[in-house]
This record gives sequence, structure tokens and C-alpha cells, in this order.
Amino acid sequence: MKAVILISGNGSNLQSIIDNASKIDLQICCVISNKADAFGLKRAEKANIDCIFIDPLLFDSNLAFDKELISVIDQHKVEFIILAGFMRILSPDVISKYFGKILNIHPSLLPKFPGLNTHQKAIESSEKIHGASVHFVTVKLDGGPVIAKETVSIDPTDDATTLAKKVLQKEHTLYPKVIQWYTQKRLKLIDESTATLDGRVL
Ligand code: GRF
Repeated sequence: MKAVILISGNGSNLQSIIDNASKIDLQICCVISNKADAFGLKRAEKANIDCIFIDPLLFDSNLAFDKELISVIDQHKVEFIILAGFMRILSPDVISKYFGKILNIHPSLLPKFPGLNTHQKAIESSEKIHGASVHFVTVKLDGGPVIAKETVSIDPTDDATTLAKKVLQKEHTLYPKVIQWYTQKRLKLIDESTATLDGRVL
């Protein structure tokens, strides 16, 4: 199944998806970044994947940026969109156009800690367990139905950096697994708060 992957940074999740692509029946048609220096672009280049940098400075609004994004995505005729550390909020236009076709990975056990600085927030909230979640993207930020989670324990010695490392390791197996469910057509977004796996509500 054909997909486009959107990134903004290091792209370690992108790498794990590239490494697993053939096993999970995924064809990565293009990697798009909103940051010119995103290391993920280098990873994609190395894997001979078409890379595109869309420069936000060339657009006078988020909507104009998203129009260009839609145009690039549509040129590649993909079946779904994978967000892998894409640090922009998609406009409702994009989200409704691709309803049920956008996946995201978030570094917390949603619904806990949506938004940024999740590891620091988990430590400050004295959580014992933390982790990552893969969810369908809907208009509510980090609020679409959760598909699957992986957990890690927070040790007394952990800081945001060590915790981020532990969580990322889990992300690298979690995301390809969920993407495979998608390419196997086992996942469906029913509405803003409901998704199914093999017809069963998650
Ligand atoms: C990950 O922690 C992911 O959960 C979040 O952004 C980070 C991206 O890391 N959405 P990387 O660029 O894949 O290394």
C-alpha cells in the first residue's frame, strides 16, 4: 500500500518504517519535511525515496502551506499518510480530506499528555508508567482514537532525555506493527472518537 511520510526532524521512526517497509507491505512514495535540515530527509535519500522540503516561509498562512502539502500528497497518489515527528498542526481541511487515512505516533500514553514536552510532564506528574501511542488523526490535537500503545516504566533516575530514549525504542516496533494493520485493511476510523480493528471497536 502506498503512503507518504511527513517528518520534521531526526526521523528515527521513519528509519524503522523504511527498514520494515517490505515486510509490512508498505511502499513509501515520498517523504515530506517542513524543515530543510531534518535528518530524516537524509535517511530517505539514502533509501532512494523521493524527498520534498516544503518551506513554510514561502507561504503567508498555514492554510496556504497545507494547500501545497495537499498538492504534493495528491501528486503521489498515495492511499494513506503517516506522520512521524511532523511538528505542524494540520488544518481541518487536510484532516477532513483524508479522513481515516492519517496515522500519528505520540510519545505518551494518550489521553495523558497531549501536545509537547510529554516526557517532562510525565516525570513532573510522578507517573510510574509512560509510553507511546499510535492514533488516527482527527481535528482534536492528539485526540483521535488510539489504536495501540506501548509502555515503559519511569525509574527514579530517569530524566526527560533518558525517558525519551526508552520511549523511542518502543515506538520503533509499535509504529510498523500498526502500519501493517493499516496496510492489511484491518483498521477503520468510524468517527471522531471511534476506530475499529478487525471490525471490533478499539
Ligand atoms: C517521536 O517521539 C514521536 O512520538 C513524536 O515525535 C518524535 C519523532 O522522533 N511524534 P523521530 O524524528 O522519529 O526520531
